[in-house]
Amino acid sequence: MDFSGALNIVLVLVASCLLFLLACRKKKFKNLPPGPTPLPFIGNMHQVDVKELIKSLRELSGTYGPMYTFHLGSRPCVVLSGYKVLKEALIDKAEEFSGRGDFPAVQMWSNGNGIVYGTGERWRSLRRFAISTLKNFGMGKRSLEERIKEEAQFLMAEFRKTQGKPFDPTFFLSCAGSNIICTLVFGDRFEYTDKKFLTLLDLINSNWKLMSSTWGQLLFTFPKIMRHVPGPHRLIYKNYLKLAEFVRERIEMNRETLDSNHMRDFIDCFLIKLQQVLVIRQVSEETMSKTTVNLFFAGTETVSSTLRYGLRILLRHPEVEEKLHEEIDRVIGPNRSPCMEDRSRMPYTDAVLHEIQRYADIVPMGVPHTVTRDIEFRGYTLPKVPATAQFDPTQFKNPNSFDPTHFLDENGRFRKNDALMAFSAGKRVCLGESLAIMELFIFLTSILQSFNLKPLMDPKDIDITPESSGLGNIPRPYQFCLLPR
Ligand code: HEM
Repeated sequence: MDFSGALNIVLVLVASCLLFLLACRKKKFKNLPPGPTPLPFIGNMHQVDVKELIKSLRELSGTYGPMYTFHLGSRPCVVLSGYKVLKEALIDKAEEFSGRGDFPAVQMWSNGNGIVYGTGERWRSLRRFAISTLKNFGMGKRSLEERIKEEAQFLMAEFRKTQGKPFDPTFFLSCAGSNIICTLVFGDRFEYTDKKFLTLLDLINSNWKLMSSTWGQLLFTFPKIMRHVPGPHRLIYKNYLKLAEFVRERIEMNRETLDSNHMRDFIDCFLIKLQQVLVIRQVSEETMSKTTVNLFFAGTETVSSTLRYGLRILLRHPEVEEKLHEEIDRVIGPNRSPCMEDRSRMPYTDAVLHEIQRYADIVPMGVPHTVTRDIEFRGYTLPKVPATAQFDPTQFKNPNSFDPTHFLDENGRFRKNDALMAFSAGKRVCLGESLAIMELFIFLTSILQSFNLKPLMDPKDIDITPESSGLGNIPRPYQFCLLPR
């Protein structure tokens, strides 16, 4: 069903609740920045392409400036667009902007519990606990780099089995990315043939896609109604329950063999913390389960989607792939595994990875924020904030094209640009950033060290715009060949 069909159903179903919702909202938010005039109930949704919401929001900022009010159905939210305003909000007013805006697709399952969708004191303690525990198990350290290098070799072995024939890389990349977070959270990796593991990856991949689909956008916009409308979006909740059930089984396995003198993983540490009731306030087993699902989900799909998108971009740009091969051959050579130390001597590869993250923009609106208290910001009172900076024409000369020179100076040296906020910024900044950067570098260089990419069509015909866009930017499905070098 297309958007207009679904919208008609929604309109019919909810006409009666309309005035009440609007009245509530109007009362609550009096001093919002100007924006396009909303219609009753559908808000500004008639002014955007729901399949490309983020693109439409960016275009509207051309008319209304870097901060404007947009009505997602009857819920007003303030869109911040561009580096300057985002820095002012997420970094200069980090504390005030650290709240989590409601995210209806997940709300029914998360109930505001866990790290990603939590708020307040519990979120703060959980975040501190997760960061320190993951660091103890190697996040950002040499030991984890060795684990990533080892996983890269498993991935290469799987790729070699394709024998140069066309294949879809989705699940191989998901297995590799997921196995790193699994090592931290569950203490072990899974075989790429493990049926249960593949089912879980399928659930994550399916939820990521659903939250980024037209149905997902409708749920985001009309949550109260869409929860009762049949459609694929209702699978999101069911899939989360299945993921949580798997995590529950793992927690039970850990509990039976728990030894406080020998902590094996994140779950062990959490079980011990739960015994020290006062260490983390308002934390229950439910919190542990939701936090673990959060880490498993966030650590799996983000890295693998970036790599999947990145390889597609390289298929479209063989001239970039060629330069990457040249740098890899010169700095690393064919006989040893890539390591993080190589990165500082590989400015071109570094620039390409940054540009892949900028262009692919796999979490295009970030995860919605809200302010923690009523604040005046640029003269207005803000309720909720989707944000985007990576396509800011004042920060990137060629924002809508894939162009690694965005991150290179005139002498070919790597040049940082703070406007790239793929991991967001401020108090909610992605807590897996250092881990993700290691994975992206080691996985991508390992692939290109071992293989040439071969597209199944003329590179010029490869469409590198996303298939759909919502929570994530979903790359178009594709097959390609890997030819051993
Ligand atoms: C390329 C890979 C990744 C990207 C692009 C990415 C991006 C993001 C973004 C945009 C956010 C929202 C931040 C905000 O609310 O302002 C986020 C949050 C988060 N990410 Fe990542 N992420 C990646 C990898 C990872 C990994 C590997 C982990 C695993 C440890 C992870 C765990 C989290 C968690 C737990 C949060 C919630 C933080 C909070 O709400 O306090 N992410 N990530």
